[in-house]
Amino acid sequence: MFDVKEKVAIVTGGASGIGLGAVEALLKKGAKVVIADYNGDAVDAQVARLKEIYNNNVLGVKVDVSNEECVKNMVDETVKTFGRVDALVNSAGVAGRCTIEDEDVVADVKRAMDVNVNGGLYCAKYAVAEMVKHGEGGAIVNVASIMGIVGTANGSAYNGSKHAVVGMTKAWALDLAPKNIRVNVLCPGYTDSGMCNTNTLGAFYDYAKSMHPLAAGLDRIANAEEMGHAVMFMIENTYLTGQAIIVDGGYTTK
Ligand SMILES: NC(=O)c1ccc[n+]([C@@H]2O[C@H](COP(=O)([O-])OP(=O)(O)OC[C@H]3O[C@@H](n4cnc5c(N)ncnc54)[C@H](O)[C@@H]3O)[C@@H](O)[C@H]2O)c1
Repeated sequence: MFDVKEKVAIVTGGASGIGLGAVEALLKKGAKVVIADYNGDAVDAQVARLKEIYNNNVLGVKVDVSNEECVKNMVDETVKTFGRVDALVNSAGVAGRCTIEDEDVVADVKRAMDVNVNGGLYCAKYAVAEMVKHGEGGAIVNVASIMGIVGTANGSAYNGSKHAVVGMTKAWALDLAPKNIRVNVLCPGYTDSGMCNTNTLGAFYDYAKSMHPLAAGLDRIANAEEMGHAVMFMIENTYLTGQAIIVDGGYTTK
């Protein structure tokens, strides 16, 4: 098992939702965790809350993952404070909304690619360099989506970018296997979070719930803790690499 106690993990998008679920799961197991997020206020709030429990095992860094220089700075800050990088969770992400016929479709896709694909790529590039430096291996978990496995209408940006994340994960897993750095991708189903709630999804929220076999009679989608648990499994299991793990309450089984 890859024991995260005293190890250093960066979680992008760590101030909210699935990223925050991963942050809490890592902290509970004794890791030192960097909450890296674009939303500086949310970073400050989560760091203040979590420091009460986990003391100096938490660091907050404001970052725009779509900006390579900013990402380099995030990794430098991590090393300055905690000395090394052992794990990376790429959870920062944005949604999309256009059909192929919409006027704004190209800008919509570009934005999703900038954050969901290039953002994760920049983070991996600089985190991997640190893992290689200490030579003890490491683990990367990308967060894609069930929309990285199946298609949906209006999905050029979101489905396109999430399929790319799944593909890139497999390439990185093969690139990095000789260095004992494992790379996997979590594909969550609908999960209560900043991106998925009644305000952001409106009436679609109830429809989304009804699409999950596990929702039948339970009236729920996933929660961030369930995704944090999946991220931990993917970090800890030393024989797992190059895999897309779908945690979706049965959505893609239908
Ligand atoms: N919630 C779902 O139903 C669901 C399902 C499948 C996949 N996902 C994926 O899970 C990941 C987390 O989403 P969530 O649902 O927890 O949403 P969320 O909105 O709660 O969290 C996303 C976080 O990413 C941050 N972020 C956005 N752009 C950023 C950038 N450029 N740089 C740094 N941080 C940035 C936001 O500030 C936010 O804190 C995303 O990649 C999303 O696509 C979510």
